[in-house]
This record gives sequence, structure tokens and C-alpha cells, in this order.
Amino acid sequence: MTAFVGLDLGTSGLRALMIGRDGHVIASAEASYDVQRPHAGWSEQDPAAWIIATRTVFAKLAAKADLTDITGIAVAGHMHGATLLDSNGEVLRPCILWNDTRSHAQAGRLDKVDGFRERTGNIVFPGFTAPKLLWVAEQEPEIFAQVAKVLLPKDYLTWWLTGTYSADMSDSAGTSWLDVGQRDWSEDLLAHTNLGREHMPSLYEGTAPVGKVTSERARELGLSGDVCVAAGAGDNAAAACGIGALREGDGFVSLGTSGVLLAAKDGFAPDAASAVHTFCHAVPDRWYQMGVILAATDSLNWLARTLGTSPSDLSREMGAEISGPGTVCFGPYLSGERTPHNDSGVRGAFVGLDIATDRSGLTQAVFEGVAFAMKQSHIALKGTGTRIDRLFAIGGGAQSRYWVELLATVLDLPIDLPRQGEFGAAMGAARLAICAATGAAPDDVMVPPEIARTIEPRTDLQPAYEDAFATFEALYPALKALP
Ligand code: XUL
Repeated sequence: MTAFVGLDLGTSGLRALMIGRDGHVIASAEASYDVQRPHAGWSEQDPAAWIIATRTVFAKLAAKADLTDITGIAVAGHMHGATLLDSNGEVLRPCILWNDTRSHAQAGRLDKVDGFRERTGNIVFPGFTAPKLLWVAEQEPEIFAQVAKVLLPKDYLTWWLTGTYSADMSDSAGTSWLDVGQRDWSEDLLAHTNLGREHMPSLYEGTAPVGKVTSERARELGLSGDVCVAAGAGDNAAAACGIGALREGDGFVSLGTSGVLLAAKDGFAPDAASAVHTFCHAVPDRWYQMGVILAATDSLNWLARTLGTSPSDLSREMGAEISGPGTVCFGPYLSGERTPHNDSGVRGAFVGLDIATDRSGLTQAVFEGVAFAMKQSHIALKGTGTRIDRLFAIGGGAQSRYWVELLATVLDLPIDLPRQGEFGAAMGAARLAICAATGAAPDDVMVPPEIARTIEPRTDLQPAYEDAFATFEALYPALKALP
């Protein structure tokens, strides 16, 4: 039997999924790690933690399955992080993550340089990779001077497995150095951060093989000597592969640490001014667009932490059905915001607190604030001419029937819930591994999952949510105006 492994290097942990050629799940395993926040707005991770987690998940898989069946591996991961290596491949400093906002001034400067928005199709957001390197050059020049390679987080793991410096198109599109229409590094854009093509890894399509697992790693992890590694993908492109969203009109809403509304595109049709992201897909000749909010389940996690309870308890207390908006309004800007505001400095707020407000009132406000922020992303996507016919809901927050019905109602779109099973970024990565190892066509492998149920918008409640959305829209300008 042949088997394939998808690794999803998430913000809070690594997930490994082992599947057969027909997509059936053989085994899965997880290992968690932390985010370090040494200063306000900073968010870092030690790449050594990813390797420890990789060893752990393979040891856990080995207890459940025969790892010598594995013939292909691919890694998906959180995007935009800057993993800096010296000429010996040693990590120079902790990886600066996607939700780190320290380089907002550098991002603002690069964003004004001719060429960045035009070539990359995107605003230079503070979370993207290029401004991080400018920050390192300015604040840690002794480190910048030693930078020999800049790798995205998942590419560091691919390098650890294969000894090859590689990057795929989907993840590289979030660096601000890729010509996203041409699918190639832009030497002009790199030069604006005092870097060149030699600092970048080689580019591949996500479905392409980049090499084999080295014999040393194969021995260490208990793999056979002949395991092909695919270039992999950024987590959102991988999730789109996992859910079968490859064609125009296909999409998903993801309630993970970040919140994402993604629509697949047949061509490159950017609209940088809208704060919509336009990136290469993980399969050749396709692109996708998405709106990204920085704190979706992160907002719920924060509330749970603050109230001394768990997110699942808060979620359970909300029940399964919506019954109209609450009276408290929440701005989910705990880490700033990308779409539609591009404002790394704004912070969150509860407004409308009453002496009678209890914890379920706060939870409801968090669910609604996130749903309204996703609606703003939908408006931004529609403004670029992007069409979404229907959506799958994925990510931890999609376990809440309440949250999904709220999203369906607020977005005015039916939302499909996949039948229990695997369909996230780890599944997408495993599917990329199948393509790389067997040469199978992406359209044959990346099919949509069976739909368990469709959650329809509650049209009777839409007028009330429209009013609450108007209040939500008034909140951001008020927060922005605060000193
Ligand atoms: C996308 C983004 C996040 C991260 C973490 O632009 O920043 O979705 O990939 O999941």
C-alpha cells in the first residue's frame, strides 16, 4: 500500500495527516508549540520547535501505521513568516510571524514604492515578509549582514527534510517579492530590501517534487529511503486544495486563528487598493483572492483566557441557533486588521456594555464582530468583481453551528459543512504530495468533499443583523480616531 503525508505547520501546532492514494485517512497526529510575544505587536516562533514537533508527529504516526508505506510528503504552513538562515543553514533569529505588526512603518514605506502593488497585486501589509527584512536591516543590522537565505516557515521544514532550499508559488506570493502574475521572483522588488535572487529559494509549483527525504532524516523518522517531497503551499491555498476549491466561484470561509474568506480565480485579476489579497494558487495557472482578518478564533481564545474558561465552553453556551443580534458590539482588532482596513495600529473594543451584560453577551459580541468583519471582506471581494457561489466552512470555529448560521445570514450565502472528516490544510498538503509523487492531475485529486449539511441564511433575521452591521461599521472610524 502506498501512503502520503500532509503536514500543516499551524500557528499553534503541527498536524500530520497520512492518507491512501484514494484519500482515505490512515492516521493523524498533532503536536503543539507556543507563540512568543516579547513586546506588544510582536509574534515570533523558534524554528527548532517546528522540528521537535515534526519528530513528535512522526513518532505518533509510527504508533498507528507503517511509515515505510509513505511515498510522498508535502508541507503547508502559516504564511509570510521570515525564517533567516546564514550561509551554514543556521537560524539567525526567531521567525517573525504573519501576525507580527512591528514592521508597519517599513511596510508603509515599501507600499509607496512604484512596482510593489503593481507586480505583487497586493498592498505591502506589515505582516508580509519584505517589510520584516527591512525592519531587521534597520534594527538588527548585524543579523541582516549574515542573511544568506530567507525561507517561509513551511519551506524551512521542507529544507530540513530534503536539504533543498525551495518555495512554492502560493506561499511566495505573500512575501511582496514575487511577481504574482508572472510567478517569478522580482529582482527589482528584492533590490528595494537590499536582497537578490540568491537570497531566495528556488521556485516550484506546489504540486512539483523538490527532492527526496534525505537518508539521515528517513532513518531518524522511520521512513523508507525513497520519499518524494512536494513544494507544498501556504496554509490557505492548501486548505483550498483540501476542500477542492480550484475553480472560479469555489470558495471557503475559514474560522482559524485568522479569519479567511477565499475565492478561487481562473486568472490574475488583482485590486490592491481594496486590501483584498490576490495570490497564486498551489496548482499551476490558477490564482485566488481572499480577505483576511487577523483574529477570528484568536478573539474567542482571548475572551476565554480572560474569563478563565475554554473557547469550547463559551461556544457551547451559545447553543446551535441564532436569534438576532445582541446589544454589545465587538471590534475584533486584537492584532490590528488587514482586510478591509490595512491598519496594524488599531486595537479591539467592546461597545454598548450594560450592567446586565454577562459572559454570553460578550461571547455573542465576539461571534458577531468576527462575522461582520468577514462580511466586510466579502464586500471587498465583490468590489473586485469576484463571485462566490457558495462556501464551505472550515477551521476550528466552524464546529460552532451558531457561528456558521450567523455567517450564512450575515454573508447572505448558503454555507456547506463537509461530512465529518479531513478537508483542511493538512489534507490539501497530502493531496499535493499525491500529485508530486504519482504525477496525478490536480483536478482529479482535489475534489470537493461530501456535503453533510447546508446552512441557509436566516432571511427573517437579516434586517436586524443589517442594523447591527451598521453599528459595527461605525466602530472602526471611532477606534481609529482614538489617540
Ligand atoms: C494569510 C495569513 C494567515 C496565515 C496564518 O495571509 O496571514 O491566514 O497564513 O494562517
